[in-house]
Amino acid sequence: MGDNLILKILAGMIFGTLLCASPSSAQSLAEKVEVCTGCHGQDGKPADKTIPIIWGQQAGYIYIQLRDFKRGDRKNETMQPIVATFEKNDMLAIAEYFAQKPWPNLNQPRPPKDVTQKALTAEHSVGCTSCHLEQFQGASTVPRLAGQSEEYLAKTMADFRTRARGNNPGMTDLMLATSPDDLSALAQFLAGL
Ligand code: HEC
Ligand code: HEC
Repeated sequence: MGDNLILKILAGMIFGTLLCASPSSAQSLAEKVEVCTGCHGQDGKPADKTIPIIWGQQAGYIYIQLRDFKRGDRKNETMQPIVATFEKNDMLAIAEYFAQKPWPNLNQPRPPKDVTQKALTAEHSVGCTSCHLEQFQGASTVPRLAGQSEEYLAKTMADFRTRARGNNPGMTDLMLATSPDDLSALAQFLAGL
């Protein structure tokens, strides 16, 4: 009877280990994304307005950014060390995880009419919507801009201009072709969408 009990306990332990195997690998994604909430927000709303919304962002775009931070093609003191140990599969899974969350509403106001007009004129001359799409919702590796934080949008467009953000030379050219004044109007307009 004693042996039988030991066998049962052993069997229980082995079964328990098998059962735990899949939840623990699922948990490792949960653990990896836990650190993100500190800055990108528990509810998807970043506390610091220079930090972008990543909830509901396009999966392909999130993946490319994580990859570029890891390669050092997109430089950022905060993000680079965070992604340093991630493998491609981690980054694909993380991108999918955040893409499936709902886009949060930061309730940013619509700008006054003259600012909107300025933004639309700049938009028409470049044709932002040919890539970012009609509602600025983005697709695949092109990011959603609608409702993104105004401060972040202004910062990252300025970074493209100076090449502090050098991971997409095409966007740098487009931003250099747009005046800082127009970019400021665009940031307000896009944030208010
Ligand atoms: C300590 C704060 C902090 C933490 C923690 C953090 N981030 Fe970030 N993240 C930032 C900042 C700041 C930026 C903006 C960088 C810039 O201005 O170029 C950013 C940018 C990003 C971007 C680019 C978004 C865009 O619109 O271009 C992605 C994607 C991202 N983070 C994903 C993550 C993920 C995934 C995690 C967790 C594994 C994470 N971040 C953890 C601060 C943080
Ligand atoms: C030819 C296609 C194309 C056009 C036109 C275009 N974009 Fe982009 N844009 C992109 C792509 C692709 C990215 C992602 C770059 C990357 O991977 O870092 C991007 C990124 C951005 C980002 C960064 C978003 C973030 O979350 O960090 C902003 C802001 C932006 N574009 C604004 C604009 C504005 C404003 C216009 C018009 C004046 C415009 N874009 C025109 C393709 C385009």
